[in-house]
Amino acid sequence: MNDCCHFQDQGGIFIGDNVLIGHNTVLATIDHDLDPQSRQNHYAPIHIGNNVWIGASIVITKGVSIGENAVIAAGAVVTKDVPANTVVGGVPAKIIRQLPVLQMEVVSPQPEGRRLLY
Ligand SMILES: CC(C)(COP(=O)(O)OP(=O)(O)OC[C@H]1O[C@@H](n2cnc3c(N)ncnc32)[C@H](O)[C@@H]1OP(=O)(O)O)[C@@H](O)C(=O)NCCC(=O)NCCS
Repeated sequence: MNDCCHFQDQGGIFIGDNVLIGHNTVLATIDHDLDPQSRQNHYAPIHIGNNVWIGASIVITKGVSIGENAVIAAGAVVTKDVPANTVVGGVPAKIIRQLPVLQMEVVSPQPEGRRLLY
């Protein structure tokens, strides 16, 4: 993980093995109501799969799951789930490339209670 990352983790953050996280990454597991009279908190977890590479200056919003081997291009704002083996980029992030599917062995098992969704 690089410098100046901010993890707002009240909703829960789950990070797989061999994940790279570039500088200035923000993981935001909280939203507020759009209605200015009622800015209540809404939480949802962020899941990051094994072998994901998150580039620099990226925001990932609450409830997003990033599939294994995915690459998040620099400067992206990720608001929806990212399929495994894809490159996504832009604001909001969209798929810009499909990656070949690699059969990679996960070196260490997920500790109890930190299992990923995929
Ligand atoms: C995504 C990245 C890995 C390049 O991947 P790639 O598959 O080689 O992509 P290409 O350069 O061939 O570009 C493919 C398309 O994606 C676009 N693209 C590339 N990087 C992009 C970005 N950061 N945001 C939005 N679109 C991007 C290109 O403009 C191109 O679009 P086009 O097909 O319309 O011309 C690279 O651009 C990147 O963002 N690297 C992260 C660098 C970084 O943050 N380093 C810090 C250390 S962690």
